[in-house]
This record gives sequence, C-alpha cells and structure tokens, in this order.
Amino acid sequence: MVSTPQATTSPGEAGGLHRPVMLSQVIEYLRPQSGGVYIDATLGLGGHARAILEESSPEGKLIGIDRDRESLRRAARELDRYERRVELHHGNFARVKDIARRWRFGACDGILADLGLSSFQLETAERGFSFQRSGPLDMRMDTDAPLTAAEVVNRFPEPKLAGLIYSYGEEPGSRRIARAIVRARPLHDTLSLAEVVSRAVRSRRRSKIHPATRTFQALRIFVNGELEALRQFVASAIELLREGGRLAIISFHSLEDRIVKGSLGSLARGCICPPEMPVCACGRKKLVKLVCRKPVSPTEEETIGNPRSRSARLRVAERL
Ligand SMILES: C[S@@+](CC[C@H](N)C(=O)[O-])C[C@H]1O[C@@H](n2cnc3c(N)ncnc32)[C@H](O)[C@@H]1O
Repeated sequence: MVSTPQATTSPGEAGGLHRPVMLSQVIEYLRPQSGGVYIDATLGLGGHARAILEESSPEGKLIGIDRDRESLRRAARELDRYERRVELHHGNFARVKDIARRWRFGACDGILADLGLSSFQLETAERGFSFQRSGPLDMRMDTDAPLTAAEVVNRFPEPKLAGLIYSYGEEPGSRRIARAIVRARPLHDTLSLAEVVSRAVRSRRRSKIHPATRTFQALRIFVNGELEALRQFVASAIELLREGGRLAIISFHSLEDRIVKGSLGSLARGCICPPEMPVCACGRKKLVKLVCRKPVSPTEEETIGNPRSRSARLRVAERL
C-alpha cells in the first residue's frame, strides 16, 4: 500500500501559499479553453478551479462541488472575481449528473477530481481528521451527515470495527487495534484514539508512517463513504463528457487508485465477451480511451517542495 499523506494542499488562509497538487499536469491534460464547460468535483479551496478559470478565460464556465460547506465558503472568496463564470454547489460528487443538470450544464469538456482531504480540513483540529492535533472524533467532510467517527469507534461491534480498519486502512494489525479500542471505550478525542492505536501496534512494527495512519484513514473513508462515492462518480462523470472531453482524477492511496484504474480500464475495454465468442454478445462499447497508460506522478521538484504530494497519482481518460 502506498503511504497516505493526510492532505494535499497547503492552506490558503493564514497567508500560506495554496498550492494545488500536480497543477501543471492537470492543466496540460484538461486543456481548458474559452467557451469550455468544466466541473471541479472536489473544489477544496479552489486552487485547481482558479487555474482552470484562468486558462479558459474569457468565456469558460465551471461548477465547483464540495461536500464541505466551510471549504465552499472559503473557495467562494477565492473565486469571487470569476463570479459570472462559476457556480458553487454543496454536495457529493457521486451525484455529479444531478448537479450538472441542476445548473443546466450540458456536455462537459473537462472534469477534475482531486481526492481526499484538503490541508484546511486536516489542519482544523475541531474536524477531527488529524492524529497529531487534539480534536473530537468527528471526521465528517459534510458536517450535515449523521455518522461521526465517535459513533463508529464507541458503538460498532469489535469484529465490524476490525473489518473496516482492515478493508479501508489495509491495516494488518486491525484485530489487535479493534480489541484495544473496545477495551478503551469510551474514546472522545483524536489524540486518545491515536495513543490507543499506537500502543496496540507499536511494539510489533517498524514503519516510516505513524502507527495510527492506517486506522485514521480507514475511519475517514468509512465515515464519508468515500469509495462508494468514487465508483459512482467515475461512471457518471464519463457520461457527462462530450466527445473529446476529459476526466482527470488524482488519487492518493492504493484503494482509490485501484477503483479509478479498474473503472476507467473497463470503460476503455468495451466488449467483455470471452475471446472464443465469434461475435459480441455483451453489447458493451468502448466509452473512453486512456490518455496515459500509466498514472502520472508529481515531479521530483514538487515532492521536495510539497512532501504531501508524493503519493499523488493522476489518471486521465478521454470520452470517445
Ligand atoms: C484535496 S482537496 C481538493 C483541493 C482542491 N483541488 C484545491 O485546489 O484547493 C479534496 C476536497 O474534496 C472534497 N471531497 C472529497 N470527497 C468528496 C465528495 N465525495 N464529494 C464532494 N466533495 C468531496 C473534500 O471536502 C475536500 O475539500
């Protein structure tokens, strides 16, 4: 498993430079143009969106989607000057087709998803995403959603907890960790959880990543239903593209990348009949071509300047 950075952008507030991951590659592959229609499905603080709007000026249009209301508010300030050309939408990108319809966007020229958390989310302790900052066990990207990490940590039966830590964190010590969590209940904050997890795995492992990394990743993915949303997003986004339109997705860990690779691969394959069949019986058509066979990685220069970008992988497909 590729180690997961907890976030991918530098915060825009506090005067810090907001640096979207793999920005030049995203622009190179999406090729924004004036008059084009674009969706940034993971708006965050609006770094990629702003570059798409700049490149597609004076007439390119963009919908920015995020399920985090506070990020949307901040992005709205960043994108203020493009007001006439931007619509911002609070929602889950799994529903990208409904969202595009709602804003009367027809076929799109480019759609981007830069998965995971923003630095703003990670660095806001009260959101509970970080095992290095004291905060409540929340981890919801959308604070309107009912399920929090506290509910999972304190109420789920031990086998279910172990299963999700294993599936969504690829954590080999999942059963030991689940047992330790159940013994330590109730747990209310991030640092106590990180301590319990660290104690459960510490003596057995030498690793470059913090012992709680995989458990926090698993809880976050589960609480936000991230993988299901991603599957739905890829299938819907492809349908929204016009011929020649492109979908670009940046993923940060192997669970995400596997879904992106598998979904785009099967859309690029079309017919799935066994080779011995004389004629096609499945009727599936190729919907996309893969613009790059292998995922694109950030440059060495970018990973030195922004170590959190090191596990980013960009995949791009073009609608046929
Ligand atoms: C890595 S950040 C994006 C940063 C952005 N590209 C920028 O330049 O500022 C990912 C964002 O996607 C949002 N997000 C993650 N999953 C989502 C989903 N299923 N639907 C909508 N937004 C989502 C998160 O709330 C977060 O703000």
